[in-house]
Amino acid sequence: MVFLLPSVKFDLAMIQKYDTRAPRYTSYPPATELNETFTETDFKTAIAASNQRNTPLSLYFHIPFCQSACYFCGCNTVISNNKRIAKPYVEYLAQEIKHTAAFINPERKVLQIHWGGGTPNYLERDQIEFLWKNINRYFSIDEKAEVSIEINPRYIDRNYILFLRQIGFNRISFGIQDFNRQVQVAVNRIQPEEMLFDVMSWIREAKFDSVNVDLIYGLPYQTHDTFRETIKKTIELDPDRIVVFNFAYVPWLKPVQKNIPQDALPLPQEKLEILKMTIEELTNNQYLFIGMDHFAKTNDELAIAQRNSTLKRNFQGYTTHAETELFGFGSTSISMLEDAYVQNHKELQDYYRAIAAGVLPISKGIKLNQNDIIRRDVIMGIMSHFQLSKQDIEDRYHIKFNKYFAEELEALKPLESDGLVSLSTNYIEITDIGRLLVRNIAVIFDTHTRTKQTKFSRAI
Ligand SMILES: C[S@@+](CC[C@H](N)C(=O)[O-])C[C@H]1O[C@@H](n2cnc3c(N)ncnc32)[C@H](O)[C@@H]1O
Ligand code: SF4
Repeated sequence: MVFLLPSVKFDLAMIQKYDTRAPRYTSYPPATELNETFTETDFKTAIAASNQRNTPLSLYFHIPFCQSACYFCGCNTVISNNKRIAKPYVEYLAQEIKHTAAFINPERKVLQIHWGGGTPNYLERDQIEFLWKNINRYFSIDEKAEVSIEINPRYIDRNYILFLRQIGFNRISFGIQDFNRQVQVAVNRIQPEEMLFDVMSWIREAKFDSVNVDLIYGLPYQTHDTFRETIKKTIELDPDRIVVFNFAYVPWLKPVQKNIPQDALPLPQEKLEILKMTIEELTNNQYLFIGMDHFAKTNDELAIAQRNSTLKRNFQGYTTHAETELFGFGSTSISMLEDAYVQNHKELQDYYRAIAAGVLPISKGIKLNQNDIIRRDVIMGIMSHFQLSKQDIEDRYHIKFNKYFAEELEALKPLESDGLVSLSTNYIEITDIGRLLVRNIAVIFDTHTRTKQTKFSRAI
């Protein structure tokens, strides 16, 4: 495969022309396709098939709790200052680990672990230790495994960070969103600059291998100038990775967002200018554009994985270790096996009830057919590498690419005329201009979504 240096060009006319709604392709088929006809028996069958493949594992643990509500938040969270609510959760989570692990071959190596939320640092240290022991008891964790955790910088101190590193976490991620005080007040998340720089210095002192920070553009009171300051300070903070999310404003789904004054949200034109400036500033300051909303330094694993073609998307975004199958634990978490995706109950009471009844706490899932698997390979190739070798797909699935995807290749022609893709005998390549619109190119290969595009957020 010819390696393409990841670069990106901001073309306003093309963004305005092609910015329609499309899934984020953290999976294919998208998570919206999971349904309740999928049963516990289906999941056990899928796990048995996964044991036969003997692939290495990624594990995800979801901690849904947060101390206070950020008004922009679109995650599945339970807000409470009463920390006692975490106690039963931790116990049920340990039971789920034990119960599910009984079906998984214990010799399969775990290469990746991620704790997300919510706010994993909502837990007390002894609760983290208890879960950590349980994970170690039932899984064999590779000594070089990437073990990452998301933290909220407002509720952490130096000792807690040193503790996380000492127990075995070696990657860490925290939300900044915006440095600007007015924006922070409007979204109910005040975190002074000194606090963020302190947290980063403790993380560096603890010697984490990689640090990620999250920003969001499109928040109330943001302007091109204020966000330029945020980007400048973020570069000074010097994380290894930066994710710049587009604010998903869905108050009809997330009532907490109704607290945001709608007339303070930046207009589409302003958002585009913010995005353009962000891309220019980051790529001029040693961050590579990985794809969608991810940026990483050249020596970070994400950039290396992109160079080695081992980059992958899972429901957290871009990730390394394409060869693993993912098991998710905790409420709402998703497992992604080669040919089946499964999601746990979202409501804590449903999740607890299932575990108490001795069944796997799943609420829905989907079994992939061969057509889904071929299309996933194509879509993920486009999303992760901006380049697809038709020959690779033909060799893997014994199909004639041009015949199988005749309709899609035809649909790509206008995008080729507009300079978003380049179509050659052997390759489909996404141009620098097409990279920001990669979801809109991928959707052409997506038979599940084509007819129902309105459900998804805008690409930009
Ligand atoms: C689970 S949180 C990260 C960990 C921790 N809870 C925190 O807030 O620092 C994941 C990230 O999702 C992003 N996020 C949350 N709601 C969002 C929304 N509505 N639109 C875009 N990004 C959002 C934020 O950047 C947030 O940092
Ligand atoms: S952004 Fe993080 S801390 Fe804030 S409510 Fe969402 S999950 Fe909790």
